[in-house]
Order: sequence, then structure tokens, then C-alpha cells
Amino acid sequence: MGHAVRAAELEAASGVASGIASGIAEAALTLDAGVAAALPGHLSRPPAGRRWTALATDGGVVMASLSEKDPDVGHIDLLAVHPSAQGQGRGRALVRAAEEWLAGQGARQARFAGNPPCYAWPGIDVRYTAAACLAESLGYERYHVAWNMTADLSVDLSVADELARLERAGVTVHAADGDRGRVTAFVEEHWNERWAWEAEHAAGLHHAERDGRILGFAAWGSRPSWFGPMGTAPDARGLGLGGVLLRRCLADQRAAGQATAQIGWVGPLRFYSRAVGARAERVFWLYRRDLA
Ligand SMILES: CC(C)(COP(=O)(O)OP(=O)(O)OC[C@H]1O[C@@H](n2cnc3c(N)ncnc32)[C@H](O)[C@@H]1OP(=O)(O)O)[C@@H](O)C(=O)NCCC(=O)NCCS
Repeated sequence: MGHAVRAAELEAASGVASGIASGIAEAALTLDAGVAAALPGHLSRPPAGRRWTALATDGGVVMASLSEKDPDVGHIDLLAVHPSAQGQGRGRALVRAAEEWLAGQGARQARFAGNPPCYAWPGIDVRYTAAACLAESLGYERYHVAWNMTADLSVDLSVADELARLERAGVTVHAADGDRGRVTAFVEEHWNERWAWEAEHAAGLHHAERDGRILGFAAWGSRPSWFGPMGTAPDARGLGLGGVLLRRCLADQRAAGQATAQIGWVGPLRFYSRAVGARAERVFWLYRRDLA
């Protein structure tokens, strides 16, 4: 310890998200290898109606946000201290500075919990144990558990037989490239605007339709490298659409060079387990603390 970093020394750096923060995130976020550097940039392009900041110190960065629809609740979206600078008080100072910023914006509570639809994780991965210890030592309460599932992409992802079967039932499946507006409208109508935002910003989006009516969708890459969300309209469930749409996305992710895919913030354990043999793996603790 000994090295205290005062909030006054932290600077809100608008360029931090793409520059310094990426390097620190890449070095510190070892459970997110390959994608950590992209997370600050991802968080710096949130939906309209969200206020956010990135606060930096030498070797450390924290990002925080709050949504105008739920202004009482502030989120600490990303926290990272370079391994060479850890254990010297920077993490603690950064969280305190983020809390101060959130309180200044009117938040009454701070959370280590994903702020959907634009988030890095649902909460603190339990294996980022130092971060969980930090949250607890700062008085945060663990109030919820969330998890991802991992799909091994070396499994058989072919859908030719199912596509033929669906076609006989009048259903066709498409990559939603030119049709994104129609698909996102479908997602918003059946679910909510958060999922619609994720569908709109997905790297890949597939949908099924019959007689010009969309029946289901699946998306990946809105949260960089993760799968989701997906959904089938209630009256089209049981046709096998979900499994086909899921495998179409996972095949895209494999083609993009991924060996595994994270199915984020699940969700129907049994569906993913049966459809592609996915296993529950990353577990996240969600923390909250009332701000004075
Ligand atoms: C979590 C992290 C940001 C902490 O930053 P830091 O600058 O090392 O933390 P500090 O020096 O301010 O330590 C503050 C508290 O954090 C906790 N902590 C820090 N290092 C720890 C360790 N190795 N083991 C357990 N707890 C630890 C302790 O509670 C510590 O206070 P205490 O020693 O008085 O109990 C840093 O370890 C990190 O970047 N880890 C990898 C990325 C990460 O986990 N990010 C969060 C993702 S949700």
C-alpha cells in the first residue's frame, strides 16, 4: 500500500477509452483475453440516454455510467489496474472516484452489475477475486448471481436438415444484413428496447420468417465476442427455430476465428445445454452499495 491516489489526481480523459484504457484492460483483464482491449471502446458507445465517464490514473482506469431511465442506479462498468501497479491503492481510489462521479450525477446507489444493453460483464467474474474482495472491503453487498455458458465451437453446427424441414413448413432463415430495421422492430415488439439495441449493434444477426412475418432471431457480437440475445415469438416456439438460429450464429463466430463462444447472461440453461452442449461456466457476483 502506501501509494494513495487522490480523486483530484484522476482525470476524466475523453480519449482514454480508446487509448490508455485499452492497454490497461488488455494487461489486467486476463479472463477476457483477445477482447479486453475492445471493452473500453465498447462501453464508450452506449445507447442514447446514458451518461458515462472514464477516469484514469497512472496504470489504472475505471468506467462508470448511469441511464436517464433509472438515474438512481449508477454502474461501475469496468475497473482495471495494470498488473505492475496493483496492490498499491489505485483500485480503491478509482472506485471511490467513480462513486463520487455517480453521486454527482444524482445516483443513490452504485453497482458492480452490467448496465444493459451495453456492458462488459453481468457483474464481477468470481475469478477476478481481487475485484470481489475490493468491492466487499468497500462495503458492497453481494445481491445476485449471474452466469454465462460456454459453447465449444468444434461441435457439429450444420443446420441443412433442419432448414429443409423448416422450408417444407414454409419457414425460411436469413442473415438479417439488409433487414436489420425489420428485425430490430420485431425484437422491440416482443421483448424490449435493450434487446433491440443489441440486435441493432450485433456483429451478426439471423432471423426466421414465414409469409413475410418474422418468427425468431438470434444475434452475436453486440457485447464483443459473446452470443446473444435470441428469441422466438411465443406462437412459433416448438418448431426448432431457436436451435437453428443459435447454430447459425455460432457458425459465424467460428468463422470469425473463435474456438468457443460465451452465451452471455443466461437464461435458459436447458435449452443451450441440449441445443449445442453448452456448459455453465463463468459466474458473476453482482454487488451494490448505497451512496451516502
Ligand atoms: C481488482 C483491481 C482493479 C484492484 O486494483 P488494485 O489497485 O490492485 O487494488 P488496491 O491496491 O486499491 O486494493 C484495494 C483492495 O482490493 C482488494 N485486493 C487487491 N488486490 C488483492 C488481491 N491480490 N487479493 C485479494 N484482494 C485484493 C483488497 O480488498 C484491497 O484492500 P485491502 O488489502 O485493504 O483489503 C486489480 O486487481 C485488477 O485490475 N484486477 C484485474 C482486473 C479486474 O479484476 N477487474 C475487475 C473486473 S469486474
